[in-house]
Parts: sequence; structure tokens; C-alpha cells
Amino acid sequence: MTNTQPAEAFQIPIEAAEAYEATFVPAFFAQWAPILCDAAGIGAGHTVLDVACGTGIVARVAAERAGAAQVTGVDLNEAMLTVARRVGAGIDWRHGDAAALPLADRSFDAVLCQMALMFFPDRIGALREMARVAAPSGTVAVLVPAGLGAQPAYGPFVDMAARQAGPQARSLLDTYFACGDLDELAGLFGQAGLRVTGTGTLGGTARFGSVDAFVATEVESTPLRERISAEVYHRIKQGAREVLAPFTAPDGTLAAPFHVHVVRARPGLRTRRPAGRCSA
Ligand SMILES: C[S@@+](CC[C@H](N)C(=O)[O-])C[C@H]1O[C@@H](n2cnc3c(N)ncnc32)[C@H](O)[C@@H]1O
Repeated sequence: MTNTQPAEAFQIPIEAAEAYEATFVPAFFAQWAPILCDAAGIGAGHTVLDVACGTGIVARVAAERAGAAQVTGVDLNEAMLTVARRVGAGIDWRHGDAAALPLADRSFDAVLCQMALMFFPDRIGALREMARVAAPSGTVAVLVPAGLGAQPAYGPFVDMAARQAGPQARSLLDTYFACGDLDELAGLFGQAGLRVTGTGTLGGTARFGSVDAFVATEVESTPLRERISAEVYHRIKQGAREVLAPFTAPDGTLAAPFHVHVVRARPGLRTRRPAGRCSA
């Protein structure tokens, strides 16, 4: 999923959102949600916001801990929200842009954002919005993929694809890893007025029924597929079988290691009107 286009440009069909919930949430996204909720210390009665909630796996895990009525999920994609409403009863699902959250200042004990910051065109603006809606004693916790250099399966796969399809393959396939430099990422929080209180890097797994299914997911969800010939695509599939062999089981299923960064922060000093310039 590459989400760097204006809102109307990346609305996905409902079938794609249903497939996301049925396939990709259990195979990949669900594993991180308890980690992110732990990082933010979510407990009973806390008010929680899930920014770029997708079909809402983080919001649902937060609801188990805080109570569904305490939880809000925001996403730009209507189809994702339609599925979220079906599987996440009692949660307040809202349509909105991370860079202009349709929510009041200082209203959440925890603001969470999982696997989405790298897609935002204005990352500092989105973090600033998370800081704005967090309570003064609240927590902002963000989880993103670590860099390609730290990914033992995705790194060699993208290198191989770039050998087959040229530099365009790297620039199209590395969107997911665009926030992978932890120091740079922490720097964005500072620029957004957030005070980083903890960072961590953890490992998990991306599961696929086969290497071909992995390649189809990674290549066909980007414009790369339309830009390469059938022959080049075939060579990428063959190359993937080689570079991913260490992570492929005898039955053909793939368990690709995947590393993520988690950053936890608190709202810093709020912007004040410059002294001596008050008209009242
Ligand atoms: C990879 S999905 C992750 C969804 C969810 N957080 C999860 O872990 O399953 C990325 C989500 O970011 C959303 N998104 C992208 N840009 C956005 C923006 N500017 N504002 C709100 N949501 C956005 C997409 O619609 C998509 O649902």
C-alpha cells in the first residue's frame, strides 16, 4: 500500500479493505498492536486515538484495555472505515486527515499511530496534530518499519528487484521503510513539539502463503508492476525464491523477519503567543 497521493487519489475499493482485514491484519499488522498499546501504557478508562487506523486493529486492542467507548479511530480511507465499523463495534470511527485531525485539543490520554507515518506527505504536520490532541500528561506512540538495511528479508529482496528492474524498483518498493532511520525519526518528533521519552526496535514476522504471494503483494501494490515487462516480473519472482529461501518453509510458506521502530513521546511546550504582542 503506497499512500503518498492526495486523499481522493488513494481511496481503495471495499474488496481491498476486506482483504486487508481478512489477510494482512492477521498475517502482519495484528502482532504490533499490543506492543504499541503497551508502549503507551493504555489502561482502563484511558481515552485513546488511533491515527490512520485502517480497519482498526490498534483501536480494537486499545478498546479491550480502555473500553470501546473511550476509543476513536481516524482514517482518510472510507473503505477502511466501513470495515472498521463492521468489526469494531462501540468505537468512534471518524473520517479525517492525520494532518488536520477533526478532534479537539488535549482530548486523549494516548495517541497511537501504527504503520502509517511513512505514507503521510506532511509527517511533521501529522505529529504536530498528534501533539495537539494529546492531553498535557498524555502519550504519543508511533510504530513504523525500520530501515531496509535492517530488514534481513525485505532488504535483499529490494536489492534483487533493483538489479532486475533498475533504480525505479528501489524508489517504489522502499516507501514502507522511509521512516526507518531512528535518529531522523526522533528528530521529526522534536520538530513537531514532542518530547521523546523512549525508543525501541523490535522484531516480528510478515507471513505469506508463498514467495509468489509475497512478490505479488509487494510489487502489485505499487506502480512497479505496470512499468516492467512480464519477463522482468518473472525474473523478480525467480530471484525472490532465491533470496527468501532462508525464510521459506518446506511447504512453501514464507515467514519473513520484519523489524520496527517504536517511538514514545509527550507533548512538549505548547506554542504561546509572543510576549508583548498581545492586543488585549
Ligand atoms: C498500512 S495501513 C495501516 C493501518 C493501521 N494503522 C494498521 O496497523 O492496520 C496505512 C493507513 O494509513 C491511512 N492513511 C494514509 N495517509 C493518511 C492520512 N494523511 N490521514 C489519515 N490516514 C491516512 C491509509 O488509509 C491506511 O488505512
